[in-house]
Amino acid sequence: MIKKTILIAAAALLLPASLLAEDKAALMKDMAAQEAAMASIQKALLYSSKAGVAEGVKALKEANKVATLKDGLINYLPDNKKALHKTALKEGEKVNKYAEEMLKKLEAGRYEEAFTAYGKALNACNTCHVIIRSWK
Ligand code: HEC
Repeated sequence: MIKKTILIAAAALLLPASLLAEDKAALMKDMAAQEAAMASIQKALLYSSKAGVAEGVKALKEANKVATLKDGLINYLPDNKKALHKTALKEGEKVNKYAEEMLKKLEAGRYEEAFTAYGKALNACNTCHVIIRSWK
């Protein structure tokens, strides 16, 4: 009985670690895809291609899994930053929010506001990274 309890306890300890490794690989892939999408949006803006921006926003939203990570995100935060996990999560939601806003403003011909929204989306990426990487 004791042996069984110890085994179960050990398994419970090991499980989050192995899940985390899988999560981490998936997260890094999604992050790279988000970086590529942001770069393609920037290029489309510079070449004034609305279709290109729309394509980039679609790719960005598909790659942005931060909102679906929810409780898992806390595992990526350094120990002294775990309290900021809700703040980090909000940044992930902001990425999509501002990407949508950029597209809408662009379609409405409100270019200045569209460019500002792009900047805000990028700020959201960097704000989360600053937390994650202990810059603050
Ligand atoms: C909610 C937090 C969060 C948001 C928002 C976020 N990231 Fe990340 N990002 C992470 C984490 C966690 C890592 C992995 C840890 C690290 O690199 O320090 C990471 C890593 C990265 C990396 C490095 C990947 C590697 O292989 O080293 C890139 C590039 C990146 N993110 C791009 C982006 C872009 C672009 C956006 C916005 C469109 C974004 N991220 C938004 C949390 C976030």
